[in-house]
Amino acid sequence: MKKTQRVLTGITTTGTPHLGNYVGAIRPTVRASRLAEVQSFYFLADYHALIKVGEPARVQRSTLEIAATWLACGLDPQKVTFYRQSDIPEIPELTWLLTCVTGKGVLNRAHAYKASVDKNNIAGVDPDAGVTAGLFMYPVLMAADILMFNAHQVPVGRDQIQHIEMARDIASSFNHLYGEHFTLPEAAIEDHVATLPGLDGRKMSKSYDNTIPLFVPRDQLRKLIMGIVTDSRAPGEPKSTEGSALFQLFQAFASEEETAALAKAYAEGIAWGDAKQTLFERLDREIAPMREVYDQLIQDPAQIERTLKAGAEKARAIATPFTTQLREAVGLRRLDTMVSASPVKVAKVAAPAFKQYRESDGLFYFKLVDGAGALLLQSTGFASGKEAAQSIARLQQEGAQALQSMQGQLTTQVEDPALTEALAHFAHPKA
Ligand code: TRP
Repeated sequence: MKKTQRVLTGITTTGTPHLGNYVGAIRPTVRASRLAEVQSFYFLADYHALIKVGEPARVQRSTLEIAATWLACGLDPQKVTFYRQSDIPEIPELTWLLTCVTGKGVLNRAHAYKASVDKNNIAGVDPDAGVTAGLFMYPVLMAADILMFNAHQVPVGRDQIQHIEMARDIASSFNHLYGEHFTLPEAAIEDHVATLPGLDGRKMSKSYDNTIPLFVPRDQLRKLIMGIVTDSRAPGEPKSTEGSALFQLFQAFASEEETAALAKAYAEGIAWGDAKQTLFERLDREIAPMREVYDQLIQDPAQIERTLKAGAEKARAIATPFTTQLREAVGLRRLDTMVSASPVKVAKVAAPAFKQYRESDGLFYFKLVDGAGALLLQSTGFASGKEAAQSIARLQQEGAQALQSMQGQLTTQVEDPALTEALAHFAHPKA
């Protein structure tokens, strides 16, 4: 049976969610998270927000709004792991471990960074003018987000594909150096998800200032919809569905039958005002119940805070032990466990040893055996255990040097390289 797929995605906490985010990301993601065979991780990427926003109050407000939006849209924090990036201190720690295996040249080629450099070059200023190291490091932080939970699938927009490829590269470098710790993630691109047009007919986007926020009050939603651009066809004139922002918005929410009915109305010359009213009613039908939950959540930020803290606990149940493993792998280790750490342990098992014993003849003997138990040195009989012990002590202190003068006490060959090596094991060179 196929292993449970881990799906992970982050939402940068900048701005207020709009209809385009809802149709393009939130709605499909919430649906996918309900499937039994996936284990999903969704998080508020507020460390990433710091790269873009210099306004603390806005970061906080946006975090609240985005968390409330996802919960209101049906994300079940019992079923998924829903957390805030900055509640997981292991993420910045992993970022550093990954930074140390990331080629600077790889980061130089990141689209977002390159775009800033290109812009500066065109403006004739320093290539790195206004570019923070945060922007430059963005892909490494994102790799840490993904690799921390060993996600298989990362649902993202097309603009993020390069970041996922970088996460794969970084994971490979780390695995190559330190062993197979990370799963190589794959981008999951939602190709069939339509990009929604905004109020002016261009793609709905914050940067075009043409968005319809998902949870504005009802009358404001109506007002915004009435402002969608249309052509100047009069009531009664047949209208084209092609290129009609209004029609596309309707289609993103309506069933096939409803869409067909509106297409028919277009052909029959529905007035734009009526078409807008139809769109408004259809949208509001889907949004109203979620808006009610959203408004309640926004009124009670403490509840959201608790939900996120519980999510962080779930996430850290994975992140904390995994970080311990990674620290160990790179050599950030306790010093007092060095002796029992694996390479030394192997040596210890293989270490030679002196064995002292008494034979039936009443004399005291000792022998030296190697790690596997093979005989390296055999003594003659001593009258007392004390004498035997003194000989052992001398061999341990002086090593192979002592052998010649001790030949009389030994029954075995003294010119064995394995013996010399074994004795060196005990040598405590004098300072
Ligand atoms: N960079 C992503 C965006 O702007 C947000 C993000 C941060 C993310 N960390 C992530 C997405 C990890 C997926 C996985 O959309």
